[in-house]
Amino acid sequence: VSRTFWVGGNWKMNGSVAAIKDLATTFNAGSSPSDVEVVIGAPFVYVHLLSESLRKDWAVAGENCYVESSGAYTGEISPEMLKDVGAQWVILGHSERRSILGESDDFTAQKCVKALAAGLKVALCVGELLEEREAGITQQVVERQLDAVIKVLKEEDWANVVIAYEPVWAIGTGKVATPDQAQETHAAIREYLKKAISPKVAEEIRIAYGGSVNGKNCKEAAQKPDVDGFLVGGASLKPEFLDIVNATQ
Ligand code: G3H
Repeated sequence: VSRTFWVGGNWKMNGSVAAIKDLATTFNAGSSPSDVEVVIGAPFVYVHLLSESLRKDWAVAGENCYVESSGAYTGEISPEMLKDVGAQWVILGHSERRSILGESDDFTAQKCVKALAAGLKVALCVGELLEEREAGITQQVVERQLDAVIKVLKEEDWANVVIAYEPVWAIGTGKVATPDQAQETHAAIREYLKKAISPKVAEEIRIAYGGSVNGKNCKEAAQKPDVDGFLVGGASLKPEFLDIVNATQ
């Protein structure tokens, strides 16, 4: 199986109207291989602007969503609303939502169900904290995070999911996991999915790596057999993101 390489940008809580227009102009002029899928996640208030400004061969993502379509949920945004303003994807379960906003595995899983039902594709983030890696429980943590989602999705739903493995200790720290560390965990995740879902899903699903990916370190990791893409934070706010989009070239 050849899996289409997937590169996601996650702008987190960054950007402004002016900055987004500038960045879209830069990205729109850059080269983007036709066999690489590119998605940019923007803060809710900028999703519409980004989807209007960005090249049409790239897609736009929300960085979160709620578990209802509409109603009395002050401050929340539904998957349907994200679609309405041009998003095709949503990033769910990011470690910053899990750790700063206290979102549980089950809540993340419900969001996956709701987003997929609304017709969004999902970038599902999983990953361990430093103390969990040091305690040797990386795989257990990632399996626990995945299990919550596995138990509520149907097998066919997984065709619309990319898993982003993001070791929390590597996020925004400049401390990137080595290509071998990423490969090892990605391979273990794929092996687990084989048993927990099916060999077909395990073979076809894209597993992207996230955590201090930049224009320089992306090339080697992109060569690893189970690294099917990247989820990029800081470097996705810079022209350098185009180098990551071209990592496989
Ligand atoms: O979603 C992206 C990750 O949190 C990685 O962020 O590339 O700034 O380390 P970073």
